[in-house]
Amino acid sequence: MNDRKILLTEDEMPRQWYNILADIKMNPPLGPDGKPIRAEDLAPVFPMNLIEQEVSTDRWIDIPEPVLDVYRIWRPSPLVRALSLEKALDTPARIYFKNESVSPPGSHKPNTAVPQAYYNKVFGIERLTTETGAGQWGSALSFACCQFGLECKVYMVRVSFDQKPYRKAMMETWGGKCVASPSMETRAGREALEKDPNTPGSLGIAISEAIEAAVSDASGKTRYSLGSVLNHVMLHQTIIGLEAKKQLNKIGEYPDVIIGCAGGGSNFAGLAFPFVLDKINGKHIEIYPVEPAACPTLTRAPFVYDHGDTSRYTPLLAMHSLGHAFVPPPFHAGGLRYHGMAPTVSQLAVEGIITPRSVQQIQAYDAGIAFARTEGIIPAPETTHALACVLEEAQKAKLEGKEKVILVNWSGHGLLDFGAYEKYFSGDLKNYEMTDDEICRSKKVFENFPKPAHLKSR
Ligand SMILES: Cc1ncc(COP(=O)(O)O)c(C=O)c1O
Repeated sequence: MNDRKILLTEDEMPRQWYNILADIKMNPPLGPDGKPIRAEDLAPVFPMNLIEQEVSTDRWIDIPEPVLDVYRIWRPSPLVRALSLEKALDTPARIYFKNESVSPPGSHKPNTAVPQAYYNKVFGIERLTTETGAGQWGSALSFACCQFGLECKVYMVRVSFDQKPYRKAMMETWGGKCVASPSMETRAGREALEKDPNTPGSLGIAISEAIEAAVSDASGKTRYSLGSVLNHVMLHQTIIGLEAKKQLNKIGEYPDVIIGCAGGGSNFAGLAFPFVLDKINGKHIEIYPVEPAACPTLTRAPFVYDHGDTSRYTPLLAMHSLGHAFVPPPFHAGGLRYHGMAPTVSQLAVEGIITPRSVQQIQAYDAGIAFARTEGIIPAPETTHALACVLEEAQKAKLEGKEKVILVNWSGHGLLDFGAYEKYFSGDLKNYEMTDDEICRSKKVFENFPKPAHLKSR
């Protein structure tokens, strides 16, 4: 089988998302009183139709027709065999990448931005607020809001805002508005700036700003939208894995190894969850979420109850967390600078169903460049972390002499990330590794919170 691209027709696109909550046990989110939160507690933040999806345990959820219509702009996305990379690595492994960079903003993020904008529109909402780390999510939500006639306001983490000015222009092209976070527009932003006027910002702070902006709008027509972490976001992203499964099936392949980079967990979950179901049912697959050593949430932080944002506006979520006050170093994979992790991904890590790994920044760029020089396309800094793991696995297959099938999520392109590539080429890019002391200090913020139960799904 030497075809390079494995394509699906529009008719072959999946019509339902896969909901992993039907197949795993989860600790519930808790309110300020330490009790499980109720749907109505979330109503000022999200529309009720998305809240219902957040807690649903139905295994399959229909994708609404207007969402499928917008998906058709770029979906089904291609599954590509990395033949040139395989050759360069001289590996017996067959490497397939699911190319999510073909969406208008350039990543997997619109897979959830589009349904989120749609459900808000149907609920009568007129304006969405959000945060963005890499700029990919803010662009995706601006694009989706434009499709459904909603206003969009994006709080972009300062360090990324400065590194990637064209992301703001992209958001404005679709009619979105973008400010650097922390900003002076919200209490959360002003407090962060008071503490440190030179802060690079963090996703935790930007989330606080966006939630505050949504709930304080007296018209009641504004809601907040999150690009990762939550159950409904993971749900929408499963279109990736469901398509990939069909594509591999077409050519009689099945993955031995599945890899995705993990910031809040959504692109990893999107590719992996439909295969996790097979693993729960007895298939042998190695599944690796890959994170930066500079923000080692799954690999070095404990599984605890913690807030999803710095100002503690979100409920307590059972997840791996470096602490809600943690401000990661300003490394270039902005979308991987998050202190927490999706509760569903965390739960799978606790149960040993998936095996988290971390890589250093320079190793990630080495892999990204090896990929660009063989397959041609240039990965986002986040995606390079997954590619570093692909290279390690391809090398391992070579040493073992095994014909493994490696499937990786190519979460986004790096065409607006050349600042980081420039630094790499000039030798100015540095590795960061958190010390044990730093991790101990950052964990103090959740010491007095309730502890999640260690549940077993199998
Ligand atoms: C291209 C790309 N990949 C990965 C991520 C990480 O997010 P997640 O873990 O939710 O997929 C981001 C986040 O901004 C991104 O832009």
